[in-house]
Amino acid sequence: MKPSDRIERFVAAMNIQPTDRVLEIGCGHGVAAGLVCAALTTGSYVALDRSAKMIAAAAKRNAAFVDDGRALFVHAGMEAAELGRARFDKVFAMRVRLFQDEPERARELAERWLAPGGRVFVEYDAPGGAA
Ligand SMILES: C[S@@+](CC[C@H](N)C(=O)[O-])C[C@H]1O[C@@H](n2cnc3c(N)ncnc32)[C@H](O)[C@@H]1O
Repeated sequence: MKPSDRIERFVAAMNIQPTDRVLEIGCGHGVAAGLVCAALTTGSYVALDRSAKMIAAAAKRNAAFVDDGRALFVHAGMEAAELGRARFDKVFAMRVRLFQDEPERARELAERWLAPGGRVFVEYDAPGGAA
């Protein structure tokens, strides 16, 4: 299985709507970002990653979506990230270690950004595999 197959399946399962406000925690290289942004029209996508290298790579990969205002890449860990009053219809994280090690804490942290009726989507990694 190619890495993109896993990510494509996960994004498809979220059934992104054109107007959705979407937050990704731990975007890595930004592969899911491109798939999500392609499904948006008036919606928006924000990514967090605690790695400066990863957030820069993801922003570069998705420069067209940054330029047209659909995507924003923020260098921050989910524990301390400040997103102001922004709220999201879909919050997702794939293979982000905190969801595996401290699932209750990670869920609480993610849920603070949910809009009413919003949902959190999480993919756990095999033990020892996440960053
Ligand atoms: C294993 S990679 C997965 C990347 C991508 N989500 C995927 O599934 O291919 C985990 C990513 O999450 C980021 N990360 C880990 N813990 C984080 C946290 N607490 N807050 C924000 N980003 C985090 C890492 O820097 C890394 O880019």
